[in-house]
Amino acid sequence: DRSIKIAPSILSADFADFGREIQAVEAQGADWIHVDVMDGHFVPNITFGPQLCRAIRPHIKTLMDVHLMIAPVDPYIEAFADAGADILTAHVEAGPHIHRTLQAIRAAGVRPGVALNPGTPADAVANVLDLVDLVCVMTVNPGFGGQSFLDMTAKIARLRELIGDRPVHIEVDGGVDPRTAPAVVAAGADVLVAGSAAFRGGSVADPAPYGANIAAI
Ligand code: DX5
Ligand code: ZN
Repeated sequence: DRSIKIAPSILSADFADFGREIQAVEAQGADWIHVDVMDGHFVPNITFGPQLCRAIRPHIKTLMDVHLMIAPVDPYIEAFADAGADILTAHVEAGPHIHRTLQAIRAAGVRPGVALNPGTPADAVANVLDLVDLVCVMTVNPGFGGQSFLDMTAKIARLRELIGDRPVHIEVDGGVDPRTAPAVVAAGADVLVAGSAAFRGGSVADPAPYGANIAAI
């Protein structure tokens, strides 16, 4: 079903060859490119920042979906907007003023998203649904690729209810693969992030192609 979007996370790509990796997954049908920004503070891992986003942006023909696992967020919004982010997702747990943060992202000309950790209930974002284009439901505790999927189908269904007829995507992030995807789609998700399932933990040059995995969903 092409109304379901696939967003490969470059966290599982070859860090020395992002340009080629992005080109390969886009050729295989990726809809968005998911970029996991981690600060070693909000999550226990460090990845990359706005300079990397700027460097890869010319290689992305689709959309750059930037997932900020950082706190604070506000001082960096302008930098990620300038770097060419199409979507900027901030965690509801990242600070006391998520409403202000989402307004600032929109004001910077970027589509805002809000993410929820596994321990955070759906209703935590009920009052910001008018401000966002996307809600990201984490199905792992954020920080690393390749973790096992946590069942958040009840949360996804509750979010669909809260969202109602607003044009808001529900993205699911963590442990999504052809085996776990059907239940999250049935619950109401329409954007699937896939790190290890897309890149197979190494390179898209792997003979078991991402395209075949997606076809199985
Ligand atoms: C986790 C990241 C995810 C991760 C997904 O902190 O936000 O985007 O890269 O990787 P997999 O699909 O391997 O769980
Ligand atoms: Zn992510």
